[in-house]
Amino acid sequence: MAVEPFDVVDLIRTKRDGGTLSTPQIDWLIDAYTRGYVADEQMSAMAMAIFLNGMARPEIRDLTLAMIASGERLDFSGLSKPTVDKHSTGGVGDKITLPLAPLVASFGVAVPQLSGRGLGHTGGTLDKLESIPGWRAKLSNEEFLAQLEGVGGVICAAGSGLAPADGKLYALRDTTGTVECIPLIASSIMSKKIAEGTAALVLDVKFGSGAFLQDPARSRELAETMVQLGTDAGVATVALLTNMNVPLGLAIGNANEVRESVEVLAGGGPADVVELTVALAREMLALAGQPDADVEAALRDGRAMDTWRAMIAAQGGDPDAGLPQPAETHTVVADRDGVLVEQQALPFGIAAWRLGAGRARKEDPVDHAAGIDLHAKPGDAVTKGQPLFTLGASDAARFERALEALDGAYRIGEAGDEVSDGGPLIAGRVTAE
Ligand code: URA
Repeated sequence: MAVEPFDVVDLIRTKRDGGTLSTPQIDWLIDAYTRGYVADEQMSAMAMAIFLNGMARPEIRDLTLAMIASGERLDFSGLSKPTVDKHSTGGVGDKITLPLAPLVASFGVAVPQLSGRGLGHTGGTLDKLESIPGWRAKLSNEEFLAQLEGVGGVICAAGSGLAPADGKLYALRDTTGTVECIPLIASSIMSKKIAEGTAALVLDVKFGSGAFLQDPARSRELAETMVQLGTDAGVATVALLTNMNVPLGLAIGNANEVRESVEVLAGGGPADVVELTVALAREMLALAGQPDADVEAALRDGRAMDTWRAMIAAQGGDPDAGLPQPAETHTVVADRDGVLVEQQALPFGIAAWRLGAGRARKEDPVDHAAGIDLHAKPGDAVTKGQPLFTLGASDAARFERALEALDGAYRIGEAGDEVSDGGPLIAGRVTAE
């Protein structure tokens, strides 16, 4: 049996006591964990030590590279188009990938979106798209490359071959209270994006009540760390810092978020969803060599919609099929005249989850028809009896717990009261130093 070069307990002690791990130590740790030599309980202790004491930038880079080395790397060099990807750290009502990928692809750019499923209160892009009858999330590497070359946009499930060490570590973090940690989030996201082989990447890093990291300063630190990791690995990377104190758009769920995305692709849709889609598209197209692309025109004239329809059809979906509707609905109305001054993202995300739109365990199914449709946004004037939002579920018994989550989550004030929405939607931009 080969002699192991390090003792994992020594490495855990080093991090526990605030020390720094060397490149060979991190390489070995990740390799040994992937092959099962380092046990889950040892890696849990390491993750907690990192959570509590942080990591220096060189350690984060080494961790990212070691996770990339644990699996395969895709190669887009054979494509005739530039590649540019987008990643969001996740939020409530965040369906932006759905209109964004076809919009950018309609400019002749390849958009490889390897996406995930939702866990907890943030939805997953694949769950949303699976509301479309026939649509298939799993593609072989050959199908993936052929669709990128032909249609330009692909949203599909990430295979287990990309950064498998991250898959294992992320599942462990999920059950050990070690998710909200900048070195671990940055290395997790960037190992998958770098292994995927995209030439350019735009990050949507959220802050606010519905985000992983609520504090804008911590979100900026996460964005800076990820931009640096991407840049060092030769991926042109830019990040936008965006506000997740209020749900994005008017739909929170799965089928209803697809419906809202199609409205954006048809040239309509809620102003905040359009604003963020357009801003991210501009960043992506600039990185792909088209800084002057007229993004709004592609939404108005149907080019983005044509690409969407081609993307859905290429993966077996019927873009004209009706989407699932909830069997039961419950509408909450304004109890007085005034202005909606607060609508907190996190409780609305939790309520949609309790209605069945999200899952508590990885293996649970989601209810594609369940979710929440908002009828008013912060700053809107409302009159007594006017619908504020509608809950949808397949079983009316779910309404009570969803309404409990929403207790105190929205507020009607007087005209002139300050609107508590955390400020502008796009709060900053981070590029390589
Ligand atoms: N998404 C990831 O892929 N990893 C994290 O750690 C957090 C969000």
